[in-house]
Amino acid sequence: MRLADIPEVPRDEVFALTADFKADDHPNKVSLGAGVYRDENSQPWVLPSVKAAREALNKNRDWNHEYLPIHGLDDFLDVARDLILGREDTSQSPVVSIQTISGTGANHLGAAFLAQRLKPRHVFISSPTWGNHHLIWEFAAPDVVQKTYPYYHAPTRSLDFEGMMSTLEAEAVEDDVVILHACAHNPTGIDPTREQWEALAELFKRKKLFAFFDSAYQGFATGDVDADAWAVRHFRHVLFPRDSTAEGPQGLCIAQSFSKNFGLYGERVGALHLVLAPGTPEPGPRTQLLRLVRGEISNPPTFGGRIVQTILSDPRLRAMWDRDLQTMSSRIKRMRSLLRQEIEKHPGVGDWSHLESEIGMFTFTGLSPAHVLRLRKVHHIYLMMSGRASISGLNEKNVTYVADAIFEVIKHEGSRQYS
Ligand SMILES: Cc1ncc(COP(=O)(O)O)c(C=O)c1O
Repeated sequence: MRLADIPEVPRDEVFALTADFKADDHPNKVSLGAGVYRDENSQPWVLPSVKAAREALNKNRDWNHEYLPIHGLDDFLDVARDLILGREDTSQSPVVSIQTISGTGANHLGAAFLAQRLKPRHVFISSPTWGNHHLIWEFAAPDVVQKTYPYYHAPTRSLDFEGMMSTLEAEAVEDDVVILHACAHNPTGIDPTREQWEALAELFKRKKLFAFFDSAYQGFATGDVDADAWAVRHFRHVLFPRDSTAEGPQGLCIAQSFSKNFGLYGERVGALHLVLAPGTPEPGPRTQLLRLVRGEISNPPTFGGRIVQTILSDPRLRAMWDRDLQTMSSRIKRMRSLLRQEIEKHPGVGDWSHLESEIGMFTFTGLSPAHVLRLRKVHHIYLMMSGRASISGLNEKNVTYVADAIFEVIKHEGSRQYS
């Protein structure tokens, strides 16, 4: 093909939105686009625990810039694995952990490995989902057929659990991969309840489905890292019980990101953990993963992994980080309540209680593309065309402005669907 004939693709929506927001010089502009934490003054927030870890690292005279091994930093991988799986004896179900280029790299490495070695017929992705899931699987696993499972029930603004279960029951076959958001589902902010996770785990076990957890918000969602890891740990216990020889799936994996919960977005810190069914020899999967890493990135970057490892292995810094998680998650929860309160002050706007029942950074506002465009054009408020809004862009100073603008666009363009 001639390079001159290459068709142009549209800009990535969320990065384009951020660029347009930056270029807008209106004094009241508000960004509800990108999934990044902002403080009370709409500024990026360097976590105090991260600052302290940086200082500790800078004092370390042994600091150098050598290559890491292909699999990454051992001490980082140990604490990363314990953070998501708990401090468990891993002898019954071996875990292979590899450091990756953040959560995106972990998703990509997992997809490439599974496509080559497990060879599933399908990968099931929630509808809707984080936009990059489709692209990652398209590039890393072109032979695996992508399917979606229903997730969001628009009329009730809640989880379509029946739809999710019945689709997986009817359409998924042994070894199919199913992507699950470990907590704080992006973009809906709606997670299954514990009872629903239990039913899902039973289904995965019976049908031998391969769970692929995407964990991008551990601790960021509720402020409690164990609560946010509950679903992952439950799946591991149910699918691979200590003394059972019953047949189940061949494994599960977790793509772990440290972008949001440590505010280390640009450092690209993450890990892929592959949990294997008891009795599975790990050298095969481990060496195949290493081979993939070698061919793609050779070995991961150092700095961010050292920060995470320093914090998680020092009790004082760890306590600081727990407080940082509380700061971020409680500010987000407070903004959810305030936004609801400020919108519902207006007559005829409908029920916005979902803002408070959802969790994490995002909400599906239910606003249409026409609402979204008017918010942007008239009020300089930026959110995705799907109506997804990032709550972290709100603060005490702009929340009333945003609520009033939402009221104005509803008055002008008509009410939300299912309001
Ligand atoms: C669901 C989900 N998975 C993975 C990621 C990966 O992010 P990163 O590559 O920055 O760690 C994100 C980031 O927005 C996300 O929302």
